[in-house]
Amino acid sequence: MRRQGLFFLVPLVLGIQACRSCRCFPNEPCWPSLQQWSEFNTTLGGKLIGTVPIGSVCHTQGGCAAYDAASCADLISDWAFPVTHYETSSSPMASWFANFSCDPFLAPNAPCNIGSVQWFAVNVSTAEDVQKTIRFTRDHNIRLVIRNTGHDYLGKSTAPGAVALWTHYLKDTHYLEYTSAHYNGPALRLGAGIQGFDAMAAAHAQNKVVVTGNCASVGIAGGYTQGGGHGQLASRFGLAADQALEWEVVTADGQLLTASPTENADLYWALSGGGGGTYAVVLSVTVKAHPEMTTTSATLAFGVTGVTTQFWEVVQTFVVDILPLLDAGAVAIWAVVGSTFSLTPISLPGGRHDQLQKGLASTLALLERYNISYTYDIQEFPTFWASYEAMNPHSNITEAQIGGRLMPRSTVESDPTTLIATLRSIAEEGVVVSGVSLNVSRSAVPWNAVNPAWRDAAISFVLGTTYNYTSRMVDLQCQSLMTDSLIPRLAALSPGGGAYLNEADWKQPDWQWVFYGVHYPMLELVKQKYDPDHVFYARTAVGSEWWVQEEDGRLCPAL
Ligand SMILES: Cc1cc2nc3c(=O)[nH]c(=O)nc-3n(C[C@H](O)[C@H](O)[C@H](O)COP(=O)(O)OP(=O)(O)OC[C@H]3O[C@@H](n4cnc5c(N)ncnc54)[C@H](O)[C@@H]3O)c2cc1C
Ligand SMILES: *[C@@H]1O[C@H](CO)[C@@H](O)[C@H](O)[C@H]1NC(C)=O
Ligand SMILES: *[C@@H]1O[C@H](CO)[C@@H](O)[C@H](O)[C@H]1NC(C)=O
Ligand SMILES: *[C@@H]1O[C@H](CO)[C@@H](O)[C@H](O)[C@H]1NC(C)=O
Ligand SMILES: *[C@@H]1O[C@H](CO)[C@@H](O)[C@H](O)[C@H]1NC(C)=O
Ligand SMILES: *[C@@H]1O[C@H](CO)[C@@H](O)[C@H](O)[C@H]1NC(C)=O
Ligand SMILES: *[C@@H]1O[C@H](CO)[C@@H](O)[C@H](O)[C@H]1NC(C)=O
Ligand SMILES: *[C@@H]1O[C@H](CO)[C@@H](O)[C@H](O)[C@H]1NC(C)=O
Repeated sequence: MRRQGLFFLVPLVLGIQACRSCRCFPNEPCWPSLQQWSEFNTTLGGKLIGTVPIGSVCHTQGGCAAYDAASCADLISDWAFPVTHYETSSSPMASWFANFSCDPFLAPNAPCNIGSVQWFAVNVSTAEDVQKTIRFTRDHNIRLVIRNTGHDYLGKSTAPGAVALWTHYLKDTHYLEYTSAHYNGPALRLGAGIQGFDAMAAAHAQNKVVVTGNCASVGIAGGYTQGGGHGQLASRFGLAADQALEWEVVTADGQLLTASPTENADLYWALSGGGGGTYAVVLSVTVKAHPEMTTTSATLAFGVTGVTTQFWEVVQTFVVDILPLLDAGAVAIWAVVGSTFSLTPISLPGGRHDQLQKGLASTLALLERYNISYTYDIQEFPTFWASYEAMNPHSNITEAQIGGRLMPRSTVESDPTTLIATLRSIAEEGVVVSGVSLNVSRSAVPWNAVNPAWRDAAISFVLGTTYNYTSRMVDLQCQSLMTDSLIPRLAALSPGGGAYLNEADWKQPDWQWVFYGVHYPMLELVKQKYDPDHVFYARTAVGSEWWVQEEDGRLCPAL
């Protein structure tokens, strides 16, 4: 009787599974044969890359193992450098998303398999490569992901069982005088693989600047500009998304389109701030270029041992008293680790030595009064380029589990004491507190999908707990601490507020509101219009709630 019941259930269960139509996963019958992959590779002129995890040289077991002690030692010593990852088609800088498979920090006999990174990548050089890849993955119901540099903190450029469109080699730049009803002036068209340092160099050659990230290797046209994008010019000229004049894209149905305020305007609006990897594959973005200018920057570091009350008083003075500098165009990148503070740097594009010095005077005076020793360096440079070269430290990958929150200017002004007490409580738990202080609404805010919470913000906070390369459980506990305790403390000071979708907790509850604000419903409509079959999926991207990534990595429709 029991048995019969079970047999009766089998077709029903299968029926439900067929309707659910998960993406086809490696080793399933639907997965293309070697022959089919090989034919696909031929149509691409050999641009199909089969993933070999970079940690393979550190392992003796598993399908991808290729142990070599010297190469493994090199990999480990270079691990913290972004280049180790962005020159590959599969390694995410946020290691969590490799799911400890082929982890170089595990013992050599821990198995090395592809694990949760993409199985294949297409080394894109033309629009046709993108069109062919979309067609192939659609035909075979295979998950598609877009990978540029692999900087993404939320794992949006990494996908189990997927084919990646790897845009790294789309390196064209073109300087032009742009004319339109909305903007007339210098501009740069940047291929999708262009990184901050490439864009800065291309602008520098014309004695111009463009908005780029603090970490020079972040890509421009991918997650950064599509997700908002801050940097040291953001108070002066607005966010990266505010610089976008037009996008050249391939849509989910394979069309090559231009999106600008006058052509496919809804797509332009969504791409400019509404999140990467969601609406279309970007081939290039054209951004505003601005004239070079005198720039003054300063770095500051201090720390105390023992009682930290005075330390936090200085931090409070700094955070509050630089507000007028932000309104004058400054951006400050700062962090508190335990009871040490570092400012790396504050920069005032277009500003002189006296102006920046005056704005920092109260902080320096308090350090003197409390006899806290500090190191301070302030310099005026003829150009922003020179300032960035001299004062901006080279960024490593962020070896941390992170969460983020945008802090409204009103909170910083009206209740700095509670804000600082909250930061102190967080830092005292051994959590890194980093802040980017800025004002991205000094001038007219353009029409785009940037989360409106940015326009009220004075500080973009990122909190980090040390990433543990050997214990999945420790990292999960840290992420829960972030989700359930740390970020809620900042959220309590910014009720109804938001977070920067690129620098946030991948488990952020209510992310639709927190990351996109009032724009979410409109962004959903754009998603439905340009990608009705959800060819593009990324964690916390608009429309991603339609899907669930199962524990084994399979992407299935949400019930
Ligand atoms: C060390 C470090 C420093 C950082 N510093 C800054 C900073 O100063 N300012 C700042 O604003 N952010 C910063 N970030 C965050 C950064 O903006 C995001 O990680 C961003 O997603 C990176 O974009 P990417 O294209 O380089 O990365 P990827 O990880 O390759 O891609 C990110 C997202 O964009 C999508 N995408 C990529 N290319 C395309 C394309 N051609 N078309 C459509 N979608 C695409 C991907 O699918 C994915 O969803 C930093 C991150 C790190 C790790
Ligand atoms: C695709 O073809 C190129 C050139 O023949 C080859 O080097 C590469 O390994 C092939 N890719 C796969 C996944 O087989
Ligand atoms: C970056 O990582 C390297 C190698 O691990 C390390 O030596 C260096 O101090 C790090 N730099 C910063 C700015 O953290
Ligand atoms: C990707 O293609 C570029 C040319 O566009 C080539 O220089 C590069 O070597 C290729 N990389 C890999 C890993 O195939
Ligand atoms: C200031 O600190 C130094 C050591 O850091 C100490 O030698 C000096 O006496 C202190 N001065 C005052 C006024 O407390
Ligand atoms: C930004 O600066 C402008 C102009 O000085 C000011 O009106 C505005 O209130 C500031 N906004 C924020 C969020 O700091
Ligand atoms: C990672 O976590 C494990 C398990 O708790 C612990 O033994 C190890 O010391 C941690 N590693 C680091 C670098 O903290
Ligand atoms: C991630 O690792 C866990 C634990 O080893 C495993 O159960 C799961 O299947 C893995 N997921 C992916 C996508 O590889």
